[in-house]
Amino acid sequence: MAAPVTKDQELELTIDSLAYGGNGVARLNGFVVFVRRGLPGDTVRARVTKVQRRHAEALATEVLRPGPQRVDAPCAHYPACGGCRFQDLAYEAQAESKAGQVADALRRIGGIAEPPLEPILPADDVFHYRNKLEYSFTQLEDGPTLGFHKAGRWDEVLEIERCWLTTDLGNAIRNAVREWARSDRLVAYDQEGQTGYLRHLVVREGRNTGQALVQLVTGPGEKFDTGGFVDVLRVFPEVRSIHWAVNETPAEVTNLPTRLLWGEEAIEEELCGLRFRVRPNAFLQTNTAMAERLYGVAREFAALTGNETVFDLYCGIGTIGLVLAGDALTVWGIDMSEESIACALENAELNGVGNAAFFAGNVGQSVAELHERSGDPDVVVVDPPRAGLAGKALKRLGEIGAPRIVYVSCNPTTLAGDAKRLADDHGYALRRAKPVDMFPHTPHVETVALLEAGV
Ligand SMILES: C[S@@+](CC[C@H](N)C(=O)[O-])C[C@H]1O[C@@H](n2cnc3c(N)ncnc32)[C@H](O)[C@@H]1O
Repeated sequence: MAAPVTKDQELELTIDSLAYGGNGVARLNGFVVFVRRGLPGDTVRARVTKVQRRHAEALATEVLRPGPQRVDAPCAHYPACGGCRFQDLAYEAQAESKAGQVADALRRIGGIAEPPLEPILPADDVFHYRNKLEYSFTQLEDGPTLGFHKAGRWDEVLEIERCWLTTDLGNAIRNAVREWARSDRLVAYDQEGQTGYLRHLVVREGRNTGQALVQLVTGPGEKFDTGGFVDVLRVFPEVRSIHWAVNETPAEVTNLPTRLLWGEEAIEEELCGLRFRVRPNAFLQTNTAMAERLYGVAREFAALTGNETVFDLYCGIGTIGLVLAGDALTVWGIDMSEESIACALENAELNGVGNAAFFAGNVGQSVAELHERSGDPDVVVVDPPRAGLAGKALKRLGEIGAPRIVYVSCNPTTLAGDAKRLADDHGYALRRAKPVDMFPHTPHVETVALLEAGV
């Protein structure tokens, strides 16, 4: 049957719900249309942007009748800025919608008719919660400035004066760097023409320690006065670590080798009563307060008694493993980032944890070797990136057959697919699943799941 809509057609649609990824879901005689910028309960005028056999995509161009959960967005940059998608949806509705998306993924993709879903843990703070932000430089007529990509545009950057996801300190550091770049007459990099110099600014804050790390990313060559840059940042007593990285490729990346311009190599953050050293390229959950809550759920699901061998796979800087180490016999962590593993080893020492070991490696390739070395794990914690247990990781994990897997997921669709494969191929059952909202106003949702072997 042909799709009942055509590209560029204008439609009047009523939005039922939000789909995973953040688009509104509308139905036209049963045919699904995903509507960008449509919120639940809205009736919108929308222009069709893409048509496929089973569904279409559209952009809401006008809200004809707002839904009951619409609120005023506080940020002056919303909705032009690509950082937030839902500042104009009441927070309770955002959280409810995310819980619904996890349930839907577990039913539809996981094949679990009645998922054992627990109520979502909402965010403690819905604004100012991020401990890290990456800004892009862009060139305006009167000089360079800093901001975020515009919503739906990879090629245009919106100047930001005040971001509601960071702190006053984060905003002040970014604006100070902008003024420095202007007064030194530096030029922002132009992605299209591959000209210019200033590329990105990364600002990281230890929210429980008050320490900040700043990383400037430029094109090749030392075309700025490094001492002047350091002086601008040393005005902020919180800034403890200033790095510079050079990006020689057109790719828009910031995880590059850095040169320390001033201060400490790393800053510290405190989580669940432990101190963690964080280097520029090491992974740290970007919402400190909710990371503590997330780890609390993982700890509850792991239900350790002190006698267990625990694997912490995709361990980053060792946060989960070190938080669990006090309740375990031994903890063994793997992460592919050598910089993160260097931090994990330092962090074990920093906290006087003697029963945790960390190794750099790809989980799919290294976990069998770890198994040989450590013996059978009682609990395996996995916290993979969005792609889930990709490559050989899931198969290897299934072969190891730990009694309990605690799966910390940042993508309910891959969690659901992995839970299904763990059930079908390796006999695991999903016992508990708890969504955690770490990222208000964005489509992201975290879930902690408990899988048990032997069904
Ligand atoms: C979502 S983070 C979790 C980090 C940590 N558990 C935490 O809570 O901070 C995912 C981590 O997986 C690592 N990673 C990604 N792919 C990997 C792979 N194939 N093998 C090992 N580590 C991987 C990344 O370096 C990153 O540190």
